[in-house]
Amino acid sequence: MKLELYEKTKKELEFDRPRRLRKLEGLRTLVRETRLSPSDFIYPIFVDRRIEKREPIEAMPGIFHHALADLEEEVTEVAALNIPAVLLFGLPSHKDEYASEAYASDGVVQEATRIIKKANPEVVVATDVCLCQYTNHGHCGVVHGGRIANDETLGILSKIAVSHAEAGADLIGPSAMMDGQVAAIRHSLDEQGFNEIGIMAYSSKFASSFYSPFREAAESSPLWGNRRTYQMDYPNRREAMREIESDIRQGADIVMVKPALSYLDVIHEARSKFNHPLAAYNVSGEYSMIKATAQRGWIDEKMVTLEVLTAIKRAGADLIISYFAKDASKWLKGSAA
Ligand code: PBG
Repeated sequence: MKLELYEKTKKELEFDRPRRLRKLEGLRTLVRETRLSPSDFIYPIFVDRRIEKREPIEAMPGIFHHALADLEEEVTEVAALNIPAVLLFGLPSHKDEYASEAYASDGVVQEATRIIKKANPEVVVATDVCLCQYTNHGHCGVVHGGRIANDETLGILSKIAVSHAEAGADLIGPSAMMDGQVAAIRHSLDEQGFNEIGIMAYSSKFASSFYSPFREAAESSPLWGNRRTYQMDYPNRREAMREIESDIRQGADIVMVKPALSYLDVIHEARSKFNHPLAAYNVSGEYSMIKATAQRGWIDEKMVTLEVLTAIKRAGADLIISYFAKDASKWLKGSAA
């Protein structure tokens, strides 16, 4: 019975046989459209001014708070894995209303940048430029009367950016989501003679609940309220395109979509609309969900991670900022992905 039905179908229908090219790993490799490589990654590093040696971050298994003294070893490992870049986040020794340690010439990110560039000048140092780890209220801008003051914050962001450039940073990553932050930083960098330092703009950064582990890691939760008056409302894709367009007009060299996984449509559209290099930030919550589930034995960490990272690239990201960068690069070494 069954066979007859099949014979009949075969005669009447013509169909493709995509399985021909799935038969062998070699064939699958030949026709693979997206290839992940260590050179796609930027590895985020948390540097804590107050510690002498690295300490684990509970909510992000495998990720550490690093002491300045650990950095040389850490970037040597990153470089050996062929990961081209790191993204630095600082935890200062002291917080205040105006985030003054963020722009101190001997601040934690400035010192970290000097150490890394000295240890390995070829490693690209990108720095996160924001106020939230440095303010006593935990907001990304200066607060006046319970509100985040946009234009006053621009001056501070510019000072931070210039201080990072002076320390030797290669890419400045403004993440505060203040209007005009890219223009203000570009102007200040140029004015101070840093016209060769690039800006990787967190252009469409959504107000996301996937940042929670990071906020534990960076000790940057807002003391009151939330970030919804400056980070984007996540239902909005057209607005994301306007944010990216605006950052390009203001002088961004690389634009970004953040987070990545719940925003693959945004990444895809940004890739088709704009010709600037596009970064996607595979954020802390996206990392910790996989780690936690894998620790329970419910998923295969390696396979799920490579699938997720490949999906981010397939959606259109040119570069991926990910806490998985080191793990993934090790796994990729051992496979023909
Ligand atoms: C700072 C900043 C945040 C992240 C990157 N830069 C936190 C936030 O906006 O609250 C999140 C990164 C992550 O979750 O991995 N503004």
